[in-house]
Amino acid sequence: MSITVKPVTPDFVAEISGLDLAQPLKPADRDAIEAAINRYAIVVFHDQKLTDDQQIDFARHFGPIHSSAQRARHTGIKHRLPSNEIADISNLDGDSNVLAPDSKRRLDWLANRLWHTDASFRAVPGALSMLYAHAVPDEGGDTEFADLRAAYDALPQTTKDQIEPLIAEHSIWHSRGQLAVTKYTEEELKSLPPVPQRVVRRHPGSGRKTLYVASHASHIIGMPIADGRLLLMDLIEHATQRQFVHSHTWKQGDLVIWDNRCTMHRARPFDTTEVRDLRRVTTRDVASTVEQAA
Ligand code: OGA
Ligand code: MN
Repeated sequence: MSITVKPVTPDFVAEISGLDLAQPLKPADRDAIEAAINRYAIVVFHDQKLTDDQQIDFARHFGPIHSSAQRARHTGIKHRLPSNEIADISNLDGDSNVLAPDSKRRLDWLANRLWHTDASFRAVPGALSMLYAHAVPDEGGDTEFADLRAAYDALPQTTKDQIEPLIAEHSIWHSRGQLAVTKYTEEELKSLPPVPQRVVRRHPGSGRKTLYVASHASHIIGMPIADGRLLLMDLIEHATQRQFVHSHTWKQGDLVIWDNRCTMHRARPFDTTEVRDLRRVTTRDVASTVEQAA
């Protein structure tokens, strides 16, 4: 089997075929996947059959794995997936039953419906996320992706100059707060304190400049909160115009990789009494964006 990379648009999203990701990954194929990610930011594989361990092993070829922050904010509950290297993105509880409408984990999970980039609320954020579909609902539950490189390129030069030096404060509690999901313990709140991240960064694999914004970003450091928040809202609104957005409709067996350093994503609604079982492994960035050259 030889690998084929088929672009969905000239610069954003490609489908890769000709690979069984459960098999050991050849260096040339690894490099071809990485090159496709650097160029297209999102890559999609269909018809894969992966255990959690195989998904983790595959991800490890692309960098160290970011441990999931789910356990830090869901203390004292039963977790469905044993490994801390895989995030449970499903609507299932520790016994594989659909989450109750008012369950804390479901309310926390609903924040995936807000535009975000994974783990920007941690000092060293996420790099590549790899989300694999075990079960999907008949209808709805797409994931949308926004191209923050193209969105940056399309900004007027005056805005580019204005935002170049800015640092935003990111906190997971800010995204949850937007949905009035605030019932966390002192210990949970303390485990994930706010962190600074650049608003503009350079994507290392492509050299392209990109916005780096998310619903976790609450304000701009050194600016009145209201001004910074409005600026962030404007940037997210700009970046999520239709021309920058691709929607992925899931099929069981899909594995989608997105580059958190230059994209945002959000889940779309579905009937949450139906099972949607997606599981994610994310690699760690090399450092805080504040420590990386813009
Ligand atoms: C995630 C995420 C969106 C979705 O896995 O990080 O935000 O559609 N998922 O489930
Ligand atoms: Mn996410």
